[in-house]
Amino acid sequence: MRNGAGESNRKLAVVIMAAGKGTRLKSQRPKVLHEIGGQPLVAHVIAAARQIAEPDDIYVVIGHQAEKVRSAVASTGVRFVEQREQLGTGHAIQCARSAIEDYENVLVLSGDVPLIRPETLERLWNFHRTEEAAMTILTAAVEDPSGYGRIVRRGPDSPEVEAIVEQKALTAGQESLREINSGIYAFQTAPLLVHLDRLSADNANREVILTDMAGLLRAAGERVVAIQAEAAGEAAEVLGANTIAELVALDRTLRMRTAELAADAVIEPFVQLLGRTKIGSGSLIRSYTVIEDCTLGEGVLIRQSSVLSGSTVADGAKIGPFAHLRPGSEIGEDVHIGNFVETKKTKLCKGAKAGHLTYLGDAVVGEGTNIGAGTITCNYDGVNKHVTRIGKDAFVGSDSTLVAPVTVGDGAYLGAGSCITSDVPANALALGRARQIVKEGWAAEQRAGRKKK
Ligand code: UD1
Ligand code: MG
Repeated sequence: MRNGAGESNRKLAVVIMAAGKGTRLKSQRPKVLHEIGGQPLVAHVIAAARQIAEPDDIYVVIGHQAEKVRSAVASTGVRFVEQREQLGTGHAIQCARSAIEDYENVLVLSGDVPLIRPETLERLWNFHRTEEAAMTILTAAVEDPSGYGRIVRRGPDSPEVEAIVEQKALTAGQESLREINSGIYAFQTAPLLVHLDRLSADNANREVILTDMAGLLRAAGERVVAIQAEAAGEAAEVLGANTIAELVALDRTLRMRTAELAADAVIEPFVQLLGRTKIGSGSLIRSYTVIEDCTLGEGVLIRQSSVLSGSTVADGAKIGPFAHLRPGSEIGEDVHIGNFVETKKTKLCKGAKAGHLTYLGDAVVGEGTNIGAGTITCNYDGVNKHVTRIGKDAFVGSDSTLVAPVTVGDGAYLGAGSCITSDVPANALALGRARQIVKEGWAAEQRAGRKKK
């Protein structure tokens, strides 16, 4: 689908309509910047478009709070077209005329239909070309079509479309139509541009709507066809987000798409799975946990209110509640990380334990080692970060501080409350604290008022 070098006409432009206000959300934020799965709606659409076109050939139509939308997605390298007044989806494409006139075809996407998959865009594009259609509409048959434009086919089994009828313009007979317009289309540029300026606000919506193009092209004898998005369960990929309820539903669908990667994984309510996150089978993620860009193995338990980012967790590990795995944490098999434990760029090998109130940064903890409550790696000297290495089967007593760089050998033992500033050999005992003093009878004498000198 990418344009070959040296072609005079470029093959395919993608236009993403993202200029609307989103009146039905009743929000200060432009609709396309509302987030699902931790990313703005329009960012999801751009990501799908990027799978089939170069950023140079992708044009995002912006208007309402244009600068906010532009800066939110500028890093993707896409181009922008301004629609200063938002007079409707047809007007959005009118504004893109000069951007698209050198391309043979245009794929139009809606900035508020975020779950669209690249595979489906590919199918739409292939169908558009085999059908040699002037306009190809991506559609879906849904249970509840209310609010959507409906597809009027030329006959029950015909690929050809007579018109798209918006909700407001439905006749009584058309209300039972269940095939909806997804707001995603492929056009041959030439017939689109011939008829583009004939779109007007003279319709039930009082807006210049792109959906009128189907009837216009038909009436001019051009071929207009529709293709359905596959499988009923995936109808969600063409659903739009016009209301808060719809946004929430799409958010859930998106997160579950990720979670579906594994069989028998259980995700409790109020869990957020963000970015590229994989959860292995048989794992349980308890409520209020947020996981971003992590890979979790099988049979992992993440207890409530834990925050994990950019980390890996191997099979059978138990994390939390209230644990914080920061980027670069590698949690080995059957490791236990308990409450109020923070790790960063730290590897814990198989079976290691850090049960309570601990900070492990830039550290390696060997197999089977126990880290006592309140242990701190002092990894930062104010300028540089340093590494703490602890061998296998070691025992770090509670409330130890390890001043990096420092190495503790296999099987070594650190007394509780130690401040460890130099290396500890394997199997040694290290004590780094003041010797305890005991004064017999001192307290009783104090109380009796006979203070000893
Ligand atoms: C649109 C379709 C409807 C379809 C539905 C699918 C029209 C008239 N109707 O309705 O048939 O079933 O999508 O989700 O197109 N936008 C602009 N400029 C504008 C107006 C809108 O860029 O002047 C953008 C919006 O930001 C949005 C997209 O176009 O991303 C669609 O607009 P929206 O108002 O959401 O249309 P729907 O009512 O959902
Ligand atoms: Mg919409």
